[in-house]
Amino acid sequence: MTARNIDGVALSAQVRGEIAQRAAELTAQGVQPSLAVILVGGDPASAVYVRNKVAGCEKAGIRSLKFEYPADVAPEEVFAKIAELNADASVHGILVQLPLPKQFDEDKVLEAISPEKDVDGFHAENFGLLLQGRKSFYPCTPWGVMKMLDSENVQIKGAEAVVIGRSNIVGKPMAVMLLSRGATVTVCHSQTKDLAFHTKRADIVVAAVGRPNFLKGDMIKPGAVVIDVGINRLTEGPNAGKLCGDVEFDSAREVASLITPVPGGVGPMTITMLLANTVESAQRALE
Ligand code: GUN
Repeated sequence: MTARNIDGVALSAQVRGEIAQRAAELTAQGVQPSLAVILVGGDPASAVYVRNKVAGCEKAGIRSLKFEYPADVAPEEVFAKIAELNADASVHGILVQLPLPKQFDEDKVLEAISPEKDVDGFHAENFGLLLQGRKSFYPCTPWGVMKMLDSENVQIKGAEAVVIGRSNIVGKPMAVMLLSRGATVTVCHSQTKDLAFHTKRADIVVAAVGRPNFLKGDMIKPGAVVIDVGINRLTEGPNAGKLCGDVEFDSAREVASLITPVPGGVGPMTITMLLANTVESAQRALE
């Protein structure tokens, strides 16, 4: 079997079209959706992510505000900006790009953002609501994965799903979302004793470990749906400098039924769902 790709670029374009329409309707009602992005330090990958987020806003008719600080900024200065943005009714979403320099306590920064403007879905209140199956902002990457599964009508109810990775940003919320849709979920991670034992039983595998080519074809059940959340830049070998996922694509696609490529898979969906959350936040502000 050779798997078919789930095209994150095409799906993103479709969903972003719908978002732009909603943004235009809200703007016509006097509320232009607006996202504030805070970037601290000069991490090149973070700068690229932020640039793509701002560009995505612009294309969708969402106003974006960007605040940049040097790596040695005093945390108080960033907390003061967050407080100002929390109080600004014209701002619907606030995002602090992670990771932050070491003088910051990231949990404290995320908790400083008003839960009503937490379009990343990282605030403990929103995570708690997600756990309880209540309305919150869904973290963008796992929500994008759910959209991709739904776009292909993948059966989630009753499916065996394995999530590799237990981060607060991807692994944990991904597991909760699959669980709340009726999957039987196993969460694997770096301490899992026999990873292949679990992945070989899975109808759906989501790899979010941050290790290049980690999940290989012989670890996958024939016909499984394989979602690759990894974005790794290779530093050595003939492909140095190229992006690759957590899944060894060439071997996995010989076994899976559906697979997401890197680049062009989950990556574009993450920003798309951030735009969706920002528009949703503006809509809630009207209600
Ligand atoms: N760093 C890596 N991914 C993300 C994300 O989705 N949101 C934020 N704020 N920072 C990140």
